[in-house]
Amino acid sequence: MAPTPKKVPIPPRGVDYRDKIVLAPMVRSGELPSRLTALHYGADLVWGPETVDRAMIGATRRINPDTNIVEWVRIPHFGQKQPPPNVPASVIFQVHPSEQCKKLVYQIGTSDPDRAVEAARMVAADVAGIDVNAGCPKPFSTSGGMGAALLKTPDKLCAILEALVNNIVPEFEIGISVKMRLLETAAETETLVRRLCGTGITGLTVHCRTTPMRPREPAIRGQLRMVADICREAGVACLMNGDVESRDHAKKLIEEFGVDGAMMARAAETNPSCFRPEAEGGFASWQDAVEKYLQNCMTTYNRFGNTKYLLCNMVPGKWPGFKNISQSKSYTQVIRTFGLSHLEKQAMETDAKLGIDPESTAPRKGKKRKNQAPEGRPDLETKKQKVSNGAVTGSPNPKMNGNAPSSVLDKEQPVSNGTATREPAMAAASM
Ligand SMILES: Cc1cc2nc3c(=O)[nH]c(=O)nc-3n(C[C@H](O)[C@H](O)[C@H](O)COP(=O)(O)O)c2cc1C
Repeated sequence: MAPTPKKVPIPPRGVDYRDKIVLAPMVRSGELPSRLTALHYGADLVWGPETVDRAMIGATRRINPDTNIVEWVRIPHFGQKQPPPNVPASVIFQVHPSEQCKKLVYQIGTSDPDRAVEAARMVAADVAGIDVNAGCPKPFSTSGGMGAALLKTPDKLCAILEALVNNIVPEFEIGISVKMRLLETAAETETLVRRLCGTGITGLTVHCRTTPMRPREPAIRGQLRMVADICREAGVACLMNGDVESRDHAKKLIEEFGVDGAMMARAAETNPSCFRPEAEGGFASWQDAVEKYLQNCMTTYNRFGNTKYLLCNMVPGKWPGFKNISQSKSYTQVIRTFGLSHLEKQAMETDAKLGIDPESTAPRKGKKRKNQAPEGRPDLETKKQKVSNGAVTGSPNPKMNGNAPSSVLDKEQPVSNGTATREPAMAAASM
Protein backbone atom coordinates (compact mmCIF):
# COMPACT_ATOMS: atom_id res chain seq x y z
CA MET A 1 0.00 0.00 0.00
CA ALA A 2 1.37 3.43 -0.95
CA PRO A 3 2.15 5.54 2.12
CA THR A 4 -0.28 8.41 2.79
CA PRO A 5 1.39 11.67 1.77
CA LYS A 6 2.55 13.75 4.71
CA LYS A 7 0.45 16.84 5.40
CA VAL A 8 0.95 19.52 8.03
CA PRO A 9 -2.49 19.53 9.66
CA ILE A 10 -4.73 22.34 8.47
CA PRO A 11 -6.21 24.03 11.56
CA PRO A 12 -10.02 23.83 11.79
CA ARG A 13 -10.65 27.44 10.71
CA GLY A 14 -7.85 27.47 8.16
CA VAL A 15 -7.71 26.58 4.47
CA ASP A 16 -5.69 24.08 2.52
CA TYR A 17 -4.00 25.77 -0.46
CA ARG A 18 -4.00 22.48 -2.38
CA ASP A 19 -5.94 22.48 -5.66
CA LYS A 20 -6.52 26.21 -5.43
CA ILE A 21 -6.06 28.93 -8.05
CA VAL A 22 -5.76 32.13 -6.07
CA LEU A 23 -5.55 35.90 -6.35
CA ALA A 24 -2.10 37.24 -5.43
CA PRO A 25 -1.48 39.92 -2.82
CA MET A 26 -1.33 43.27 -4.61
CA VAL A 27 -1.00 46.64 -2.96
CA ARG A 28 -3.53 49.02 -4.54
CA SER A 29 -4.77 46.46 -7.04
CA GLY A 30 -5.86 43.93 -4.43
CA GLU A 31 -8.24 46.08 -2.42
CA LEU A 32 -11.67 44.78 -1.50
CA PRO A 33 -13.62 45.31 -4.78
CA SER A 34 -10.92 43.55 -6.83
CA ARG A 35 -10.97 40.63 -4.44
CA LEU A 36 -14.76 40.39 -4.68
CA THR A 37 -14.56 40.51 -8.47
CA ALA A 38 -11.93 37.76 -8.53
CA LEU A 39 -14.13 35.63 -6.25
CA HIS A 40 -17.11 36.29 -8.51
CA TYR A 41 -15.15 34.89 -11.45
CA GLY A 42 -14.07 31.81 -9.55
CA ALA A 43 -10.87 32.57 -7.64
CA ASP A 44 -10.67 29.87 -4.98
CA LEU A 45 -8.92 32.11 -2.45
CA VAL A 46 -7.87 35.75 -2.37
CA TRP A 47 -4.86 37.36 -0.68
CA GLY A 48 -5.15 40.84 0.76
CA PRO A 49 -2.50 43.43 -0.14
CA GLU A 50 0.52 43.39 2.12
CA THR A 51 -0.11 45.44 5.24
CA VAL A 52 2.80 46.43 7.42
CA ASP A 53 2.56 45.25 11.02
CA ARG A 54 3.01 48.75 12.46
CA ALA A 55 0.06 50.03 10.42
CA MET A 56 -2.29 47.43 11.84
CA ILE A 57 -1.08 47.56 15.44
CA GLY A 58 -3.21 50.13 17.24
CA ALA A 59 -5.96 50.18 14.61
CA THR A 60 -9.58 49.84 15.70
CA ARG A 61 -11.88 47.15 14.34
CA ARG A 62 -15.38 48.27 13.47
CA ILE A 63 -18.27 47.07 11.37
CA ASN A 64 -19.36 49.58 8.76
CA PRO A 65 -23.10 50.01 9.40
CA ASP A 66 -23.81 50.81 5.73
CA THR A 67 -22.04 47.84 4.20
CA ASN A 68 -21.48 45.27 6.98
CA ILE A 69 -17.82 45.30 6.00
CA VAL A 70 -15.36 44.74 8.82
CA GLU A 71 -12.84 47.57 8.80
CA TRP A 72 -9.67 48.41 10.70
CA VAL A 73 -9.27 52.14 10.99
CA ARG A 74 -6.90 54.60 12.59
CA ILE A 75 -6.29 58.33 12.64
CA PRO A 76 -3.18 59.17 10.62
CA HIS A 77 -0.52 61.18 12.46
CA PHE A 78 1.38 62.36 9.37
CA GLY A 79 4.64 61.91 11.22
CA GLN A 80 3.56 64.14 14.14
CA LYS A 81 3.25 63.07 17.77
CA GLN A 82 -0.44 63.97 17.84
CA PRO A 83 -2.70 63.69 14.81
CA PRO A 84 -3.72 67.08 13.37
CA PRO A 85 -7.28 68.06 14.40
CA ASN A 86 -10.28 66.86 12.36
CA VAL A 87 -8.33 64.33 10.35
CA PRO A 88 -10.70 61.56 9.21
CA ALA A 89 -9.90 57.97 10.12
CA SER A 90 -8.07 55.96 7.48
CA VAL A 91 -9.10 52.47 6.57
CA ILE A 92 -6.15 50.11 6.94
CA PHE A 93 -7.84 46.87 5.88
CA GLN A 94 -11.32 45.61 5.04
CA VAL A 95 -12.96 42.21 5.11
CA HIS A 96 -16.25 41.60 3.34
CA PRO A 97 -18.64 39.08 4.93
CA SER A 98 -18.45 36.94 1.78
CA GLU A 99 -14.66 36.71 2.06
CA GLN A 100 -14.71 35.69 5.67
CA CYS A 101 -15.86 32.15 5.09
CA LYS A 102 -12.47 30.62 4.38
CA LYS A 103 -11.63 32.72 1.35
CA LEU A 104 -9.29 35.45 2.53
CA VAL A 105 -5.62 35.28 3.44
CA TYR A 106 -4.13 38.33 5.14
CA GLN A 107 -0.59 39.22 4.11
CA ILE A 108 1.66 40.87 6.62
CA GLY A 109 4.81 42.93 6.07
CA THR A 110 7.07 42.47 9.04
CA SER A 111 10.64 42.12 10.23
CA ASP A 112 9.96 41.26 13.83
CA PRO A 113 8.36 38.17 15.40
CA ASP A 114 6.62 40.03 18.25
CA ARG A 115 5.19 42.74 16.04
CA ALA A 116 4.09 40.10 13.52
CA VAL A 117 2.13 38.26 16.22
CA GLU A 118 0.63 41.48 17.57
CA ALA A 119 -0.53 42.60 14.13
CA ALA A 120 -1.79 39.14 13.14
CA ARG A 121 -3.88 38.96 16.34
CA MET A 122 -5.79 42.04 15.18
CA VAL A 123 -7.24 40.27 12.13
CA ALA A 124 -6.82 36.54 12.73
CA ALA A 125 -10.42 36.00 13.84
CA ASP A 126 -11.69 37.43 10.53
CA VAL A 127 -9.47 35.67 7.98
CA ALA A 128 -8.62 32.13 6.92
CA GLY A 129 -4.84 32.47 7.03
CA ILE A 130 -1.87 34.73 7.67
CA ASP A 131 0.84 35.01 5.03
CA VAL A 132 4.25 36.61 5.49
CA ASN A 133 5.70 38.63 2.61
CA ALA A 134 9.28 37.55 1.98
CA GLY A 135 9.44 38.74 -1.62
CA CYS A 136 8.93 42.49 -2.00
CA PRO A 137 12.15 43.84 -3.55
CA LYS A 138 11.39 47.58 -3.14
CA PRO A 139 13.76 49.59 -0.94
CA PHE A 140 11.00 50.87 1.34
CA SER A 141 10.30 47.28 2.29
CA THR A 142 13.78 45.83 2.24
CA SER A 143 15.34 48.79 4.06
CA GLY A 144 13.07 48.00 7.01
CA GLY A 145 14.27 44.41 6.87
CA MET A 146 10.93 43.24 5.47
CA GLY A 147 9.96 41.62 2.17
CA ALA A 148 12.81 40.22 0.12
CA ALA A 149 15.31 41.31 2.80
CA LEU A 150 13.99 38.40 4.86
CA LEU A 151 15.41 36.01 2.27
CA LYS A 152 18.84 37.17 3.38
CA THR A 153 18.03 36.81 7.08
CA PRO A 154 16.61 33.29 7.22
CA ASP A 155 16.96 33.10 11.01
CA LYS A 156 14.71 36.11 11.36
CA LEU A 157 12.24 34.86 8.75
CA CYS A 158 11.99 31.48 10.47
CA ALA A 159 11.63 33.16 13.88
CA ILE A 160 8.70 35.23 12.52
CA LEU A 161 6.99 32.16 11.06
CA GLU A 162 7.57 30.12 14.23
CA ALA A 163 6.21 32.92 16.42
CA LEU A 164 3.07 33.07 14.27
CA VAL A 165 2.71 29.28 14.26
CA ASN A 166 3.17 29.05 18.04
CA ASN A 167 0.82 31.88 18.90
CA ILE A 168 -1.73 32.42 16.15
CA VAL A 169 -2.40 28.80 15.18
CA PRO A 170 -3.53 27.58 18.65
CA GLU A 171 -5.36 30.79 19.46
CA PHE A 172 -7.27 31.28 16.19
CA GLU A 173 -7.03 27.87 14.50
CA ILE A 174 -5.85 29.21 11.14
CA GLY A 175 -2.70 28.40 9.18
CA ILE A 176 0.45 30.42 8.54
CA SER A 177 2.16 30.65 5.16
CA VAL A 178 4.98 32.49 3.42
CA LYS A 179 5.45 34.01 -0.03
CA MET A 180 9.05 34.00 -1.21
CA ARG A 181 11.15 34.54 -4.31
CA LEU A 182 13.78 32.25 -5.76
CA LEU A 183 17.35 32.68 -4.56
CA GLU A 184 20.28 32.96 -6.97
CA THR A 185 21.16 29.27 -6.97
CA ALA A 186 19.03 26.17 -6.68
CA ALA A 187 21.15 25.06 -3.70
CA GLU A 188 20.39 28.29 -1.82
CA THR A 189 16.69 28.03 -2.60
CA GLU A 190 16.66 24.41 -1.47
CA THR A 191 18.30 25.20 1.87
CA LEU A 192 15.88 28.02 2.59
CA VAL A 193 12.76 26.12 1.52
CA ARG A 194 13.76 23.20 3.75
CA ARG A 195 14.12 25.55 6.70
CA LEU A 196 10.82 27.32 6.00
CA CYS A 197 9.01 24.01 5.71
CA GLY A 198 10.30 23.09 9.16
CA THR A 199 8.62 26.03 10.89
CA GLY A 200 5.12 24.56 10.98
CA ILE A 201 3.68 26.56 8.09
CA THR A 202 0.86 25.02 6.07
CA GLY A 203 1.62 26.76 2.76
CA LEU A 204 4.45 28.26 0.72
CA THR A 205 4.14 30.36 -2.43
CA VAL A 206 7.15 30.69 -4.66
CA HIS A 207 7.31 33.65 -7.02
CA CYS A 208 9.48 32.24 -9.79
CA ARG A 209 11.77 35.25 -10.06
CA THR A 210 14.85 36.20 -8.09
CA THR A 211 14.87 39.47 -6.12
CA PRO A 212 16.70 41.55 -8.75
CA MET A 213 14.47 40.35 -11.59
CA ARG A 214 12.06 42.85 -13.09
CA PRO A 215 8.44 41.83 -13.65
CA ARG A 216 8.90 42.08 -17.43
CA GLU A 217 11.51 39.33 -17.31
CA PRO A 218 9.87 35.96 -17.88
CA ALA A 219 9.42 33.83 -14.78
CA ILE A 220 12.01 31.06 -14.43
CA ARG A 221 10.65 27.67 -13.55
CA GLY A 222 13.81 25.57 -13.42
CA GLN A 223 13.77 25.31 -9.61
CA LEU A 224 10.04 24.84 -9.29
CA ARG A 225 9.86 21.06 -9.25
CA MET A 226 12.56 20.94 -6.59
CA VAL A 227 10.64 23.42 -4.41
CA ALA A 228 7.43 21.44 -4.92
CA ASP A 229 9.18 18.18 -3.98
CA ILE A 230 10.59 19.61 -0.74
CA CYS A 231 7.20 21.01 0.20
CA ARG A 232 5.46 17.72 -0.51
CA GLU A 233 8.03 15.81 1.53
CA ALA A 234 7.36 18.19 4.43
CA GLY A 235 3.57 18.16 3.97
CA VAL A 236 3.42 21.87 3.10
CA ALA A 237 1.15 23.00 0.24
CA CYS A 238 3.10 24.69 -2.55
CA LEU A 239 1.66 27.42 -4.77
CA MET A 240 3.51 28.65 -7.83
CA ASN A 241 3.45 32.27 -8.95
CA GLY A 242 4.84 34.19 -11.90
CA ASP A 243 3.39 34.64 -15.41
CA VAL A 244 0.35 32.44 -14.82
CA GLU A 245 -2.20 33.69 -17.33
CA SER A 246 -5.48 31.90 -16.70
CA ARG A 247 -7.08 29.06 -14.74
CA ASP A 248 -6.49 26.62 -17.56
CA HIS A 249 -2.88 27.73 -17.92
CA ALA A 250 -2.51 27.30 -14.16
CA LYS A 251 -3.83 23.75 -14.34
CA LYS A 252 -1.29 22.85 -17.02
CA LEU A 253 1.56 24.33 -14.98
CA ILE A 254 0.42 22.54 -11.83
CA GLU A 255 0.49 19.26 -13.72
CA GLU A 256 3.84 20.00 -15.37
CA PHE A 257 5.72 21.04 -12.23
CA GLY A 258 3.96 18.99 -9.55
CA VAL A 259 2.91 22.00 -7.48
CA ASP A 260 -0.34 22.09 -5.50
CA GLY A 261 -1.86 25.27 -6.87
CA ALA A 262 -1.16 28.58 -8.55
CA MET A 263 -1.39 32.29 -7.84
CA MET A 264 -2.11 35.04 -10.39
CA ALA A 265 -1.37 38.74 -10.02
CA ARG A 266 -1.11 40.84 -13.18
CA ALA A 267 -3.40 38.63 -15.27
CA ALA A 268 -6.11 39.21 -12.65
CA GLU A 269 -5.29 42.89 -12.40
CA THR A 270 -5.99 43.23 -16.13
CA ASN A 271 -9.01 40.96 -16.31
CA PRO A 272 -10.20 39.20 -13.13
CA SER A 273 -12.23 36.73 -15.19
CA CYS A 274 -8.91 34.90 -15.79
CA PHE A 275 -10.09 32.67 -12.93
CA ARG A 276 -13.05 31.35 -14.92
CA PRO A 277 -12.46 27.96 -16.57
CA GLU A 278 -12.74 27.74 -20.36
CA ALA A 279 -15.56 25.26 -19.88
CA GLU A 280 -17.58 27.99 -18.14
CA GLY A 281 -16.85 30.69 -20.66
CA GLY A 282 -13.24 31.56 -19.83
CA PHE A 283 -12.30 35.20 -20.12
CA ALA A 284 -15.14 37.69 -20.01
CA SER A 285 -14.92 40.75 -22.24
CA TRP A 286 -13.13 43.61 -20.52
CA GLN A 287 -16.42 45.53 -20.55
CA ASP A 288 -18.18 42.81 -18.55
CA ALA A 289 -15.29 42.58 -16.12
CA VAL A 290 -15.24 46.37 -15.72
CA GLU A 291 -18.98 46.47 -15.06
CA LYS A 292 -18.72 43.78 -12.40
CA TYR A 293 -15.75 45.54 -10.84
CA LEU A 294 -17.55 48.89 -10.80
CA GLN A 295 -20.58 47.34 -9.13
CA ASN A 296 -18.32 45.96 -6.41
CA CYS A 297 -16.62 49.35 -6.04
CA MET A 298 -19.93 51.09 -5.60
CA THR A 299 -21.48 48.62 -3.17
CA THR A 300 -18.37 48.84 -1.01
CA TYR A 301 -17.95 52.63 -1.42
CA ASN A 302 -14.42 52.14 -2.64
CA ARG A 303 -12.24 55.23 -2.70
CA PHE A 304 -12.63 56.73 -6.15
CA GLY A 305 -8.91 57.20 -6.77
CA ASN A 306 -8.32 53.52 -6.15
CA THR A 307 -11.20 52.52 -8.41
CA LYS A 308 -9.83 54.65 -11.22
CA TYR A 309 -6.35 53.26 -10.74
CA LEU A 310 -7.48 49.72 -11.45
CA LEU A 311 -9.89 50.76 -14.19
CA CYS A 312 -6.96 52.26 -16.08
CA ASN A 313 -5.41 48.82 -15.94
CA MET A 314 -8.53 47.02 -17.13
CA VAL A 315 -9.52 49.36 -19.94
CA PRO A 316 -7.51 48.97 -23.16
CA GLY A 317 -5.33 52.01 -23.74
CA LYS A 318 -6.53 52.15 -27.33
CA TRP A 319 -10.18 52.35 -26.36
CA PRO A 320 -11.46 55.81 -27.33
CA GLY A 321 -12.84 56.50 -23.85
CA PHE A 322 -9.62 55.68 -22.00
CA LYS A 323 -8.62 59.30 -21.55
CA ASN A 324 -12.11 60.18 -20.30
CA ILE A 325 -11.80 57.47 -17.68
CA SER A 326 -8.33 58.53 -16.65
CA GLN A 327 -9.49 62.13 -16.24
CA SER A 328 -12.84 61.44 -14.61
CA LYS A 329 -13.56 62.84 -11.18
CA SER A 330 -16.58 60.82 -10.12
CA TYR A 331 -18.32 57.47 -10.39
CA THR A 332 -21.08 59.21 -12.34
CA GLN A 333 -18.65 60.37 -15.01
CA VAL A 334 -17.09 56.93 -15.27
CA ILE A 335 -20.46 55.22 -15.60
CA ARG A 336 -21.50 57.67 -18.33
CA THR A 337 -18.31 57.11 -20.28
CA PHE A 338 -18.95 53.39 -20.25
CA GLY A 339 -22.57 53.98 -21.25
CA LEU A 340 -23.84 51.98 -18.27
CA SER A 341 -26.99 54.04 -17.84
CA HIS A 342 -28.65 51.39 -15.65
CA LEU A 343 -25.94 52.07 -13.04
CA GLU A 344 -26.09 55.87 -13.17
CA LYS A 345 -28.45 56.24 -10.20
CA GLN A 346 -26.22 54.01 -8.09
CA ALA A 347 -23.18 55.99 -9.22
CA MET A 348 -24.78 59.26 -8.15
CA GLU A 349 -25.68 57.76 -4.78
CA THR A 350 -22.14 56.47 -4.37
CA ASP A 351 -20.70 59.89 -5.20
CA ALA A 352 -23.05 61.48 -2.68
CA LYS A 353 -22.02 59.00 -0.02
CA LEU A 354 -18.34 59.66 -0.70
CA GLY A 355 -18.82 63.42 -0.80
CA ILE A 356 -17.84 63.65 -4.48
CA ASP A 357 -19.40 66.23 -6.79
CA PRO A 358 -20.66 64.01 -9.65
CA GLU A 359 -20.15 66.77 -12.21
CA SER A 360 -16.81 67.99 -10.91
CA THR A 361 -14.32 69.12 -13.51
CA ALA A 362 -11.91 70.63 -11.01
CA PRO A 363 -8.33 70.02 -12.09
CA ARG A 364 -6.06 68.18 -9.75
CA LYS A 365 -4.01 70.30 -7.44
CA GLY A 366 -0.48 70.97 -8.65
CA LYS A 367 0.92 71.89 -12.02
CA LYS A 368 0.46 69.41 -14.81
CA ARG A 369 3.70 68.23 -16.30
CA LYS A 370 4.17 67.79 -20.00
CA ASN A 371 3.58 64.12 -20.89
CA GLN A 372 2.12 63.51 -17.48
CA ALA A 373 0.73 60.02 -17.05
CA PRO A 374 -3.05 59.64 -16.98
CA GLU A 375 -4.52 60.23 -13.57
CA GLY A 376 -4.82 57.06 -11.65
CA ARG A 377 -1.98 55.43 -13.59
CA PRO A 378 1.24 57.23 -12.78
CA ASP A 379 3.06 54.25 -14.20
CA LEU A 380 1.69 54.73 -17.71
CA GLU A 381 2.81 57.35 -20.14
CA THR A 382 0.16 59.66 -21.54
CA LYS A 383 -1.55 58.10 -24.50
CA LYS A 384 -2.64 60.08 -27.50
CA GLN A 385 -6.23 59.08 -27.88
CA LYS A 386 -9.40 60.25 -29.44
CA VAL A 387 -11.49 61.65 -26.63
CA SER A 388 -15.18 61.12 -26.68
CA ASN A 389 -17.54 62.98 -24.39
CA GLY A 390 -20.30 60.45 -24.30
CA ALA A 391 -20.52 56.70 -24.11
CA VAL A 392 -17.86 54.97 -26.11
CA THR A 393 -17.80 51.52 -27.60
CA GLY A 394 -14.90 49.38 -28.65
CA SER A 395 -14.06 45.87 -29.67
CA PRO A 396 -11.15 44.85 -27.52
CA ASN A 397 -9.42 41.58 -27.27
CA PRO A 398 -10.86 40.37 -23.97
CA LYS A 399 -7.58 38.89 -22.82
CA MET A 400 -5.34 41.85 -23.43
CA ASN A 401 -6.05 45.29 -22.13
CA GLY A 402 -4.20 46.95 -24.98
CA ASN A 403 -1.84 48.82 -22.71
CA ALA A 404 1.74 48.45 -23.75
CA PRO A 405 2.68 45.21 -22.02
CA SER A 406 5.97 46.56 -20.80
CA SER A 407 4.25 49.50 -19.10
CA VAL A 408 1.77 47.26 -17.40
CA LEU A 409 4.19 44.55 -16.52
CA ASP A 410 6.81 46.98 -15.33
CA LYS A 411 4.73 48.07 -12.43
CA GLU A 412 4.93 44.99 -10.30
CA GLN A 413 5.02 46.77 -7.03
CA PRO A 414 4.19 50.41 -7.33
CA VAL A 415 4.77 52.72 -4.44
CA SER A 416 1.40 53.77 -3.23
CA ASN A 417 1.21 57.52 -3.58
CA GLY A 418 -2.14 58.26 -2.15
CA THR A 419 -4.57 56.66 -4.53
CA ALA A 420 -4.89 53.54 -2.47
CA THR A 421 -7.96 52.97 -0.38
CA ARG A 422 -5.76 52.70 2.60
CA GLU A 423 -4.00 55.49 4.33
CA PRO A 424 -1.24 56.60 1.94
CA ALA A 425 1.70 56.50 4.31
CA MET A 426 0.72 53.08 5.56
CA ALA A 427 0.06 51.72 2.11
CA ALA A 428 3.34 53.11 0.84
CA ALA A 429 5.03 51.33 3.63
CA SER A 430 3.04 48.25 2.97
CA MET A 431 4.48 46.81 -0.22
C1 LIG B 1 0.25 46.09 -8.35
C2 LIG B 1 1.02 45.00 -7.67
C3 LIG B 1 1.12 44.99 -6.29
C4 LIG B 1 1.79 43.94 -5.65
N1 LIG B 1 1.79 43.90 -4.28
C5 LIG B 1 2.30 42.80 -3.66
C6 LIG B 1 2.13 42.62 -2.26
O1 LIG B 1 1.49 43.41 -1.57
N2 LIG B 1 2.69 41.51 -1.69
C7 LIG B 1 3.37 40.57 -2.42
O2 LIG B 1 3.84 39.57 -1.86
N3 LIG B 1 3.52 40.72 -3.75
C8 LIG B 1 2.98 41.79 -4.38
N4 LIG B 1 3.05 41.88 -5.73
C9 LIG B 1 3.70 40.78 -6.50
C10 LIG B 1 2.63 39.77 -6.95
O3 LIG B 1 1.93 39.22 -5.86
C11 LIG B 1 3.27 38.64 -7.78
O4 LIG B 1 4.20 37.96 -6.99
C12 LIG B 1 3.99 39.15 -9.03
O5 LIG B 1 3.25 40.15 -9.69
C13 LIG B 1 4.24 38.00 -10.00
O6 LIG B 1 3.03 37.41 -10.39
P1 LIG B 1 2.42 37.65 -11.88
O7 LIG B 1 3.48 37.26 -12.85
O8 LIG B 1 1.18 36.79 -11.92
O9 LIG B 1 2.11 39.10 -11.98
C14 LIG B 1 2.40 42.92 -6.40
C15 LIG B 1 2.30 42.95 -7.79
C16 LIG B 1 1.61 43.97 -8.43
C17 LIG B 1 1.49 43.94 -9.92
